[in-house]
Amino acid sequence: MKPVRLITAALTAAALSVPLAAPASAAPDHDHDHPRYAKPGTLRWAAPEGLVIGTAVAGGGHHLEQDYPDPFTSDGRYRRILAREFSSVSPENQMKWEYLRPTRDEYDFGMADAIVDFAERHGQDVRGHTLLWHSQNPEWLEEGDFTAEELREILHDHITTVVGRYEGRIDQWDVANEIFTSSGELRTEDNIWIRELGPGIIADAFRWAHEADPSAELYFNDYGVEDVNAKSDAYHELVQELLADGVPVHGFSAQVHLSMQYPFPSSLEENLQRFDDLGLGTALTEVDVRMRLPEGGEPTGEQLRTQADYYERALNACVNVEGCDSFTIWGFTDRYSWVPVFFEGEGEATVMDEDFHRKPAYFALRSSLLEEKSDGHGRPPWAGHGR
Ligand code: XIL
Repeated sequence: MKPVRLITAALTAAALSVPLAAPASAAPDHDHDHPRYAKPGTLRWAAPEGLVIGTAVAGGGHHLEQDYPDPFTSDGRYRRILAREFSSVSPENQMKWEYLRPTRDEYDFGMADAIVDFAERHGQDVRGHTLLWHSQNPEWLEEGDFTAEELREILHDHITTVVGRYEGRIDQWDVANEIFTSSGELRTEDNIWIRELGPGIIADAFRWAHEADPSAELYFNDYGVEDVNAKSDAYHELVQELLADGVPVHGFSAQVHLSMQYPFPSSLEENLQRFDDLGLGTALTEVDVRMRLPEGGEPTGEQLRTQADYYERALNACVNVEGCDSFTIWGFTDRYSWVPVFFEGEGEATVMDEDFHRKPAYFALRSSLLEEKSDGHGRPPWAGHGR
């Protein structure tokens, strides 16, 4: 676990004179850089101690409408790279409500189990994604005619069952995903839980998750919170209130879906640092960098270099913040990226092309990691996961 982080957190909590609800026991202890898993030349091998390099595991969601079979279960080459390069995995869709909950009384854990088993076989962390969200909920839930009491019971049952099933096997959970609008208002209209049950349900979700797995680190996760801005301010305030109330919140993560149409979010490091200062863990959880494609669809050399620079800057922001212990990209190959499906005219957002050839962004990440590992600025062994 993270002794240093916990001490900082304990001090913060002591200052607020509340009992600290920190993870009670260590999450599974993977040997991320054991030579059995971390072959020389890969990203996970290059990563400094205490920092995991993750990717989304492609499946579900937009993939279901494409003319290829399920990538995770069907594409052998994809699986080999997934195992070789990464020390953490995040189900892209396979732990969302839409996927896990065909009906009110049923759970379908087939694909989620397969991902967690795969991760264990390959010495990888798992980031669970996600428990309370306004999107990708099943119709029976969104269109159901439930009383507040029933809805509360449905959420409680879901969190207890899902988090409990993977107790000790999932390192970090995105408990609450995207609960604020860009102006920093709670999503009281489109988030069914907040709308029907009030904002207090957020604290309950964290409490229930903590009860179900005291070893998992519990996160807030969102997009558009890379910079210090109204939305990240809203998280900063909420988290302090929750900590003061003794709610088990352990981390804040920025998704980092970037577009080269906009400048790089230059206060990313400062923003992560202010959450770190509250005693929280931080993470970058869904990094990708999309670009407008020229006629013909091929990116120019200059575009690829700019993209590499964005990736590298995001990584460096994380590396420079002591408790930022997880850097996850939202898919590693353009073949399966969500970007062209969701952002018209944009694409090429990942670090490998459609044929799994590594792009400049891949090499920029790897050399930054190596530099960090070897230049003495590497994390002390007790920082991050301390593994
Ligand atoms: C996306 C997936 O990549 C797609 O496959 C799916 O169709 C829609 O969702 N923020 C999140 C992720 O928290 O869950 C989203 O993933 C991307 C934005």
